[in-house]
Amino acid sequence: MKSLLIAVLLGAVYAMASEVCQDLHAIKVQTQWKDAYGESSDRVALAQAVYRTLFKLAPESAAFFHRVNGEHPDSSEFVAFSLRVLNGLDIVITLLDQKEALHAQLEHLHHQHIDRHVPPKYAAAFVESLHHVLPAVIGHCYDEVAWTKCLGNIAKKILA
Ligand code: HEM
Repeated sequence: MKSLLIAVLLGAVYAMASEVCQDLHAIKVQTQWKDAYGESSDRVALAQAVYRTLFKLAPESAAFFHRVNGEHPDSSEFVAFSLRVLNGLDIVITLLDQKEALHAQLEHLHHQHIDRHVPPKYAAAFVESLHHVLPAVIGHCYDEVAWTKCLGNIAKKILA
């Protein structure tokens, strides 16, 4: 009887956790993203820092962004694009505790990327880029493990 109760409780905990990351990591990512993006006075600078870092880590990835003028990261086209991406990331992070809506949003983003043929290895480069940028914005409270788990899975699902 006792082991049945434990099994039911464990099942409930796992059911709460999203397919992307466990609840504690999700809460940390949501809180830290709110500090970095939600309360940012300069989202353009944040978005540009993310892509400048990505293009330093993986210079060849700029070629994927030709249609949005990725060769010129300061151009209005690319600035607007980079903000659309951060807005997309904001939606995903907001939904980390809404399992079904999160799944729907990740499917939507996945479909937006299929025709781009971006190799999945760039998911890691994107995560690495945020590892460089976010601590500079929010300081030492940045939780690298939580971001690696949550954002790593998010980016992998989008590019899969
Ligand atoms: C968490 C990770 C990511 C999120 C949330 C995300 C989000 C988005 C969104 C919302 C769009 C559509 C923007 C629009 O309306 O124009 C987009 C387009 C695109 N993304 Fe991502 N993305 C992610 C990762 C990546 C990575 C790692 C790459 C490649 C290195 C990539 C390459 C592209 C390309 C090539 C486009 C289309 C650009 C065009 O219009 O030609 N994405 N992404």
